[in-house]
This record gives sequence, structure tokens and C-alpha cells, in this order.
Amino acid sequence: MKIKTAKFVISNTDVSKCPKERIPEYAFIGRSNVGKSSLINMLTNHKKLAKISGKPGKTQLINHFLINDNWFLVDLPGYGYAKVSKSKRKSFQDFIKDYFLQREQLVCSFILVDSRHEPQKIDLEFMQFLGENGIPFCIVFTKADKMGNTKLQKNLINYKNKILESWESVPTHFVTSSETSMGKEDVLKFIEQVNIDIAKDFE
Ligand code: GTP
Ligand code: MG
Repeated sequence: MKIKTAKFVISNTDVSKCPKERIPEYAFIGRSNVGKSSLINMLTNHKKLAKISGKPGKTQLINHFLINDNWFLVDLPGYGYAKVSKSKRKSFQDFIKDYFLQREQLVCSFILVDSRHEPQKIDLEFMQFLGENGIPFCIVFTKADKMGNTKLQKNLINYKNKILESWESVPTHFVTSSETSMGKEDVLKFIEQVNIDIAKDFE
């Protein structure tokens, strides 16, 4: 799929104030600093569409980006970021949960995990939360440029084995790098196909 246009629409913390358009929506979620905002910029060929930072906790709101005038990409704050105050951390969790539970236009979420790291409890718990609520998700392994292929393959096998301890199969997954654009075509092709598959639900 070619990205012809990508426009920032609105930021907020309240799912009821998200855009009203009945068009398909894809959300990026994961721990702070995993590369959610960078992946949005990579996919849309923009350097500064979504705000990125070396410091965790950069994205603090639900951000809607309108792509090709017919679907939304949504950048979300990281979960499990320990350095924000306790009250703020809780509000992240409440509005993030509300977003996933209430947003009818959400057709698929992408859980981003850093491909360098061991499976993290908070990511596995979030997958569980989505599964229990019947919310479809894929896994995106980020920052694949940060290690050699042997290490990368070893980590992917390790992660898949961990998933299979609680799931019958490994969800659709992608290996990406926002530095090298690895995985870009695969993610965009997937979204393009889902857009076709669910088109009748949005008529
Ligand atoms: P929050 O908004 O804080 O939740 O973080 P985020 O998940 O949106 O991460 P962000 O995109 O801001 O990236 C965090 C840091 O990781 C930045 O310094 C990025 O440049 C870097 N980064 C993101 N993706 C990649 C990647 O694929 N490869 C490399 N080498 N660095 C990356
Ligand atoms: Mg961000």
C-alpha cells in the first residue's frame, strides 16, 4: 500500500472525544520507549508526524493520524513507565483500557515489544487483557537493527515459545526497524488486506 497522505487529527485522554468518523482504526501500544511513535513515522514516511524521544514517557495522549483519508493510525502512551508519578501512571492505565474496551472502530492493535529483550510480564498481561476482551492484536518486534541476525532469530524463537505457554498459536507478528525500514511493506500489506476484509462492516 502506498501512503499518499498522513495527517495529525486530534490528541486527547478521553475515548469519547476521539474522532467520530466510522473508518477502520489501528492502534500501536507497548512499553514506553519501545518505538511506537518511530514506527508510525517510518510507516508514513514522515520524520516528525508522531513525536519521538530518547526519554521514555514522550507520548502521553491518544493521538489520531488520518491515513490516505480513509483509515486511522493511533499512537498511544507507553504502559508500565515507572518514572511518572503514581497518579499519572494510573490515569494512563484507565484511559488506555477505556480506549481498547470502548473504541468500536478499532479493528486491530499492534503490541510492540523490543526484540532485544526477554518477554516482559506487562506485555504478556496486556495480551491477556486483549484476548479476554476479544480484541484482535498482532505483535511487532521493534529495533531489529540493534542486533545481529543470529541473536535476533534466537530472541524470536524464545519469545514465540513463551507465547505458546498461554496461547494455542503465535499471533500474526512482524519484525521491524524504524532505522532501516525493515518490516514496513509487511505491516502496510497486512493493514491493506484487513481494510479490504472488514470494508463491509464500515459501509
Ligand atoms: P513513548 O512515547 O515514550 O511511549 O515511546 P515510544 O514507544 O513512542 O518510542 P519512540 O518512538 O519515541 O522511540 C524511543 C527511542 O527509541 C528513540 O530514541 C528512537 O529513536 C529509538 N528507536 C525507535 N525505534 C527504533 C528502531 O527501530 N531502531 C533504533 N535503533 N532505534 C529506535
Ligand atoms: Mg511515543
